[in-house]
Amino acid sequence: MKDAKTLWKACVSRALEALAREKGIPAEALSALPPAVEVPPKPELGDLGFPMFPYAKVLRAAPAQIAQAVAAALVGDPEAAGLGTVRTEGPYLNVFLDRPAVVRDVLEALGRDPDGYGRNESLAGRKIMVEFSSPNTNKPLHLGHLRNDALGESVSRILAANGAEVFKIDLINDRGVHICKSMLAYMAYGNGRTPESEGVKSDHFVGDYYVRFNDLKKEDPAAEEKAQALLVKWEAGDPDTLALWKTMNGWAEGGIRQTYERTGISFDKYYHESRIYVTGKDEVLRGLESGVFFKAEDGSVRVDLSDIGLETKVLLRKDGTSIYMTQDIGLAIERHKDWPFDQLIYVVASEQQYHFKVLFHILAKLGYPWAANLYHLSYGLVNLPEGRMKTREGTVVDADTLLDSLRELAVEEIASKGREDAVGDISETAEKIALGAVHFYLLQATPSKDMIFNPKESLSFNGATGPYIQYMGARISSMLRKHDSGEGNARGGTVRPELLAGDAEWALIRRIAEYPEAVAQAARDFDPSAVATCLYDLASAFSRFYHDNPVLTAPDKDTAASRLALAAAARTVLRNGLSLVCIPFLETM
Ligand code: ARG
Repeated sequence: MKDAKTLWKACVSRALEALAREKGIPAEALSALPPAVEVPPKPELGDLGFPMFPYAKVLRAAPAQIAQAVAAALVGDPEAAGLGTVRTEGPYLNVFLDRPAVVRDVLEALGRDPDGYGRNESLAGRKIMVEFSSPNTNKPLHLGHLRNDALGESVSRILAANGAEVFKIDLINDRGVHICKSMLAYMAYGNGRTPESEGVKSDHFVGDYYVRFNDLKKEDPAAEEKAQALLVKWEAGDPDTLALWKTMNGWAEGGIRQTYERTGISFDKYYHESRIYVTGKDEVLRGLESGVFFKAEDGSVRVDLSDIGLETKVLLRKDGTSIYMTQDIGLAIERHKDWPFDQLIYVVASEQQYHFKVLFHILAKLGYPWAANLYHLSYGLVNLPEGRMKTREGTVVDADTLLDSLRELAVEEIASKGREDAVGDISETAEKIALGAVHFYLLQATPSKDMIFNPKESLSFNGATGPYIQYMGARISSMLRKHDSGEGNARGGTVRPELLAGDAEWALIRRIAEYPEAVAQAARDFDPSAVATCLYDLASAFSRFYHDNPVLTAPDKDTAASRLALAAAARTVLRNGLSLVCIPFLETM
């Protein structure tokens, strides 16, 4: 089903071209000016509005005149006539859609394939790899990871909903001096303790020792050097060092994976830095031979970046050791061999913009054709209302603790509404509400922007929140259950689109009809906020509709059945859409 906007754009475009021909102006003059469609500020003005200002110059007429000429042409266009009516409003051409026809189309499309509603095949045949999360194994995931994870998982699901074949990968940064610091602290204070013996989640257990490295530094001024020395030992394959490293990384990664499971994210493959950090070295040496890189006076291998206006960048230190960039060069090449992607998306914080700009440039210089299709999905910082998160000041919020406290708040909210009996397993429901709260809040923001996460606000059952949308889904579900158990007037009624042509119903239908375009838009921009916003608008349109229009208790059977069909359609879109933004759908709330 083509959406109304697309169909009308084509009609308006045809009318404009006809007008140009009439005036002896070549139609190509319009090719850079495709019709822009807007939503009129007031519903009385119509459903779609086309401003005619852009055509004044080319068509040598006043915008209002053009609007009238186009309107006249459209009256005689049989395709347009089947789609609604047009009216001019000064320089605007406004369209009033044929409401019952749209209602019928939307309900039909939903009925044919409810699960597929909103999906499209525009990316069919494209292999897209998405790297996200990429934690370090010295501490648990924090609030920033929750944003990263939500973005990565949601963008992956959205791309798949647009037909792409998606492969999700995680890079575990399990090597380096930060890992050695938690190991050193454990060697000093651990005394054989384990996460089990202490009853602490295993990644938090490791993170606690990373924090305790600060104590060690106070006691031992050589602690930093010792951490470096431990890294050298690790690289040399010292058995004791490797054994402790394995144990502690197992704890860290195990705990991190539990958090993934808790938040509903998953990966097709894990890459470990410890296994791949050497592979980039060979690539760099080959590049040195072929003249893509050069040897600097100090003996380091560098790349000249003057063509993108940057200073030279070291790729191998003079002692031959590799750096972060070296590793990412090798990693990208290895990944393309593993799974020959058409595109690779890195979901990584905006702090690393320079890194990815340079990385993509180097891979292009090395001659990899796919380098043109690498994309850094850069996202901004997340802070709490109390201010910036800092590890040393203890203001870093780890993901588990945050989710726990959101769940507690949700339990209170359920209790305060007296819904304990209705929701069944209260702690399970509260956990899903907590996830809905955090994921919606993080995803409704534009990825590139820094943001403040306000836990209380995210959980509010009123306003643009995840729980509000979940609540609307649950209300409709409860209505459908009542109908199924024999309550209400809808049984035996006939769904009649003309009974759904009122303004409140129409507003809701419009949202449902817009949803597929939101899914397409989100994929084009790698930005789930288009879907999040659409779902909120849909939920509030449902709320307004339901406020004035009883469904099961509508006076006659056909009205009840028609409204119920509309409510069920809204529910299907909420269910499909919530899964794209990683929010659990709730049957009761
Ligand atoms: N773990 C890294 C960090 O904490 C991010 C890794 C990003 N991915 C990559 N391929 N470089 O900064």
